[in-house]
Amino acid sequence: MPAPAENVPPHVAIIMDGNGRWAKQRGLPRIEGHRRGVETVRTTTFAARDLGVRMLTLYAFSIENWKRPQEEVGALMTLLEYYLKKELETFVRDRVRLRTIGRTEELPAGVQKMLRTTMEETKHFNDYTLVLALNYGSRTEVVDAARSYAAAVAAGKEKLNDSSWGTFSRYLSTGDMPDPDLVIRTSGETRISNFLLLQAAYAEFVFMPVLWPDFTKADLSTAIAEYNRRERRFGLTSEQLKPAAAK
Ligand code: FPP
Repeated sequence: MPAPAENVPPHVAIIMDGNGRWAKQRGLPRIEGHRRGVETVRTTTFAARDLGVRMLTLYAFSIENWKRPQEEVGALMTLLEYYLKKELETFVRDRVRLRTIGRTEELPAGVQKMLRTTMEETKHFNDYTLVLALNYGSRTEVVDAARSYAAAVAAGKEKLNDSSWGTFSRYLSTGDMPDPDLVIRTSGETRISNFLLLQAAYAEFVFMPVLWPDFTKADLSTAIAEYNRRERRFGLTSEQLKPAAAK
């Protein structure tokens, strides 16, 4: 395992990719890959916390994923409900706060119920938050936010002339969340796939060849070490950053 990273990104977001390929390589049905993927969700949730991460956002189901074969979508929803039922006790015991982003109101009723219960029972925990992106897509999120923002303007709750990123971004489903510092994508693909497009404006991206079911705590450490080698400039020059770093 690489040496512990000195500067741990407070918010890590992961595009969990490669479940299907993992299964195919073993001659197994795709759903077996997802099943193993759920195990990795479990281990990564605690690995991230052990390493000092404060918030972990996982892209579990995108809006585009509904277009997959019905059988696969159904299996993913069943897995999700089963996962939530099994994890509730662990989240409460280990003080993991659960929240979601995305249009969760379109998920099956059983999943919604488990999400509500888990979020309610874990809402008091402040140290570590697991965010599941479910039925999430950035473009839809922006459209939904624009609609809510327009309604707030019409109702006199917001002033159009005062519009800024600060005021508008509160209407995104990430409204009260910090932006991700590090975005990881597994499986060797180098796309963002409609994930946190605006929120990741200044994030560092690390693309890793490992398939999601094989992703380990050591891989997460490697990504964090890579993050540490990067210089986050937020539009400034290296020279401008140096005095600030010396303070
Ligand atoms: C991509 O693998 C992964 C997904 C479509 C979603 C990830 C889902 C899980 C890890 C399981 C459910 C999640 C939770 C939180 C219980 P892929 O199928 O696109 O892989 P491929 O690109 O190799 O085909």
